Amino acid sequence: MPLLEVRNLRIDFGPRRAVDEVSLSIDPGQTYCLVGESGCGKSITALSIARLLPTPPAAHPSGEILLEGRDVLRMAPRELQQIRGRTVGYVFQEPGAALNPVMRIGAQIRESLALHRPGSDSDAEAVRLLKMVGIPDPETRLKAYPHQLSGGMQQRVVIALGLAPQPRLLVADEPTTALDVTVQAQIIELLRDLQRHLGMAILLITHNLGLVGEIADRVGVMYAGQLVEEGPAIEVLRQPRHPYTRALLRSVPELGHPARRLVGLPGNVPGPGDWPQGCRFAPRCPVVRPTCSGPSPGWSSVAAGHQVRCPFTEG
Ligand SMILES: Nc1ncnc2c1ncn2[C@@H]1O[C@H](COP(=O)(O)OP(=O)(O)O)[C@@H](O)[C@H]1O
Ligand code: SF4
Ligand SMILES: [Mg+2]
Repeated sequence: MPLLEVRNLRIDFGPRRAVDEVSLSIDPGQTYCLVGESGCGKSITALSIARLLPTPPAAHPSGEILLEGRDVLRMAPRELQQIRGRTVGYVFQEPGAALNPVMRIGAQIRESLALHRPGSDSDAEAVRLLKMVGIPDPETRLKAYPHQLSGGMQQRVVIALGLAPQPRLLVADEPTTALDVTVQAQIIELLRDLQRHLGMAILLITHNLGLVGEIADRVGVMYAGQLVEEGPAIEVLRQPRHPYTRALLRSVPELGHPARRLVGLPGNVPGPGDWPQGCRFAPRCPVVRPTCSGPSPGWSSVAAGHQVRCPFTEG
C-alpha cells in the first residue's frame, strides 16, 4: 500500500480554484519531488496533506488524501492531531519562522519529544538528533538560542525538529532556498542519507531542478494548479516530454543563484481562477497549436509510470 495517495485533489480559496485534479502516490521510503515555478500550487498541495492550509479565505479541499489508507480530508480533529508530526513532518523554507527565538534549541527539541514520544529519554534523544543532522558538539549547541547559529545550522535544527517525532513522511518545502550554495548541497545530501537510514519517505518541493537529480525517485511537474508531467526522475530529467518541463530544465539555475526567468518563455504563471481555456500553458508554449485552446488535454502515457498532459510529446 502506498504511504500517501492523493486522488483528484482540488483546493478552492473562496471562488478561486488554486489546485485542480492533482493525483500522486508516494511509497514508503520513496522520494517524490514536486517542481514548478512559484505560484503553481506546490506548497498548498503539500500543506493539505496534514490539513494545514492557510486561512482566511476559507480553503475547501476535495478529493481524497489517503495517508496509510485513511482519508485525511475525512479525519476528526483528534485524529489529525495524531498524524501531524508523527506520520507527516514538515520542514519549511525559512528556518527563522520554524524556530522559537526565545527558547533554547534543546528545549524546543525536548518539547516536541514530550508531545510526540512521551517516555523517551529526551536529553539523550536530543543529542542523537543533532548528531544525526550533522551538528558538531551537540551538547553545547542544545544550550544555544537560534540566533547563535548560522542559517545552515538553523535549518539542520529545523530538520531535527521535523525528525523528532519519527515521521513516515517528511515534507520539505524549499528547504534550501534561503541557504548558500555549499549548504544547499549539504542539506540535500543530509536528507538523502536520513532517508536511506530511516526508511522515511520524502516529499521535496523545489524550483531547483538541479537538486532533483540528486535525490528524487519520482518527479511531478506542476503548472497553474495541475500536474502536467509525472514520472520516474531519471526519465523526466533526461527525456522531458511536456514543453513546460523542457523550459524548466533549460532554466535550471546554477546552485546558489536565484531562479532566472524561464529561458525563452514569455509571461508568468496565471493565478488561481485566471486559467485560460484548454491547455493552461498555451499562452506561453513555444510549440502551441491551434487545437490547444480546445478541450483541456488529459493525460497521455509516454512510458510505464510516465505521463504527460499534452498530446504533442514528440516535438
Ligand atoms: N490563503 C490563501 N488564500 C488565497 N490564495 C492563496 C492562499 N494561499 C495560496 N494561495 C494562492 O494559491 C496559489 C498557489 O500557491 P502556492 O501553493 O503557495 O504556490 P507555490 O508553492 O507553487 O509557489 C498562488 O497563486 C497563491 O497566491
Ligand atoms: S497542449 Fe499545446 S499548448 Fe499545451 S503544452 Fe501541449 S503543445 Fe503546448
Ligand atoms: Mg511554495
